[in-house]
Amino acid sequence: MSVFIPQMEPVITAEDADAVTAYMRSGAWLTEFEHTRRFEQMIAEYTGARFCTIAPNGTLALFLALVANGIGHGDEVIVPDLTMAASATAVVMAGATVVFGDIDPVTLCLDLTRVDERMTPRTRAVMFVSLNGRAPAALSDFARACRARGIAVIEDAAQSLGSFVGGKHLGTFGDCGCFSFSSQKIVTTGQGGAVVTDDEALFQRMKRIRDFGRSAGGSDHYLSVGWNLKFTDLQAVIGVEQMRRLPRLVEGKRRMYALYQQHLDGVSGIELPATDLTMVSPWFIDVLVKDRRRTALAEHLKSEGIGSRPFYPALHAEPAFGYDGSFPVAQLIAEQGLWLPSSLNLGEHEIERVCASIRRFF
Ligand SMILES: Cc1ncc(COP(=O)(O)O)c(C=O)c1O
Repeated sequence: MSVFIPQMEPVITAEDADAVTAYMRSGAWLTEFEHTRRFEQMIAEYTGARFCTIAPNGTLALFLALVANGIGHGDEVIVPDLTMAASATAVVMAGATVVFGDIDPVTLCLDLTRVDERMTPRTRAVMFVSLNGRAPAALSDFARACRARGIAVIEDAAQSLGSFVGGKHLGTFGDCGCFSFSSQKIVTTGQGGAVVTDDEALFQRMKRIRDFGRSAGGSDHYLSVGWNLKFTDLQAVIGVEQMRRLPRLVEGKRRMYALYQQHLDGVSGIELPATDLTMVSPWFIDVLVKDRRRTALAEHLKSEGIGSRPFYPALHAEPAFGYDGSFPVAQLIAEQGLWLPSSLNLGEHEIERVCASIRRFF
């Protein structure tokens, strides 16, 4: 019996372990300090953003960005119907109202040509999610047009570290860009998140909000309501190690996607979404399974010792949201999408095994 191939697992190296050990022997206070500042600096440098602030996870990074942009009760935020639930629940956490919008069938991101249809006088922000590292070339113009109308663009780039549009890193088009370092992400600290921005005033607000609203570190003078959204240096030392090898991880993701493209070429029952591998560093290997055969394919893979995972559901129809409306593209893609084994721990031989199994099924 062959070894089970999981859909995902993190890549943790000896360098990560050594960095943690060295840190633990250094008289560490564990909570955020110099290593967290270094991690923030590396993210800002890599993405080309002026400022970066860390958060405990990607959900709280989104919450922090929304609150710092002044979004709360009475405001509406447009969110794609096909995304991880946190894109929407962060809006709820900020006290605002989620307005879902349909996605584009090519990029699988919010359909920017139809966002206007979802706007009302209460629209204060658009949550643009670069799903799996993809985004349309029109994102730049879209963000500019929103800004001119006083509507914030919060980029949920949780899946997009290492991905670009027109040479510019995702997360840097909107007012704020948010990342996640949960255990399945290309850079992982177990849990973790970050917000990047070019706006110094926003950055200063975020720094205050994430430290109880204090006027300065250690002060007990509170300028605004804030929370404890701090990180730990124990995690940051791992983040710093992984940021060092990010260029190699990005290359690995692109190579893996190209291998899947090559080995699945001509399989008529599935489609790989269009992916520009000079710009996109796909987080997961995603395929669209035609003719309602996704569940059968997943079961076949499982019977051959291969893990997979269906796409997120169309959020509007989930009990958590119970939102009236019809979003046909999101619904169709949610029914067809399947994530294949995507860990950078996989070798070429294992990818070939997955693709051979898919070919056998069809
Ligand atoms: C698109 C998207 N947004 C937000 C999140 C939430 O990030 P976290 O799990 O770090 O809170 C995720 C996590 O997978 C995500 O994929």
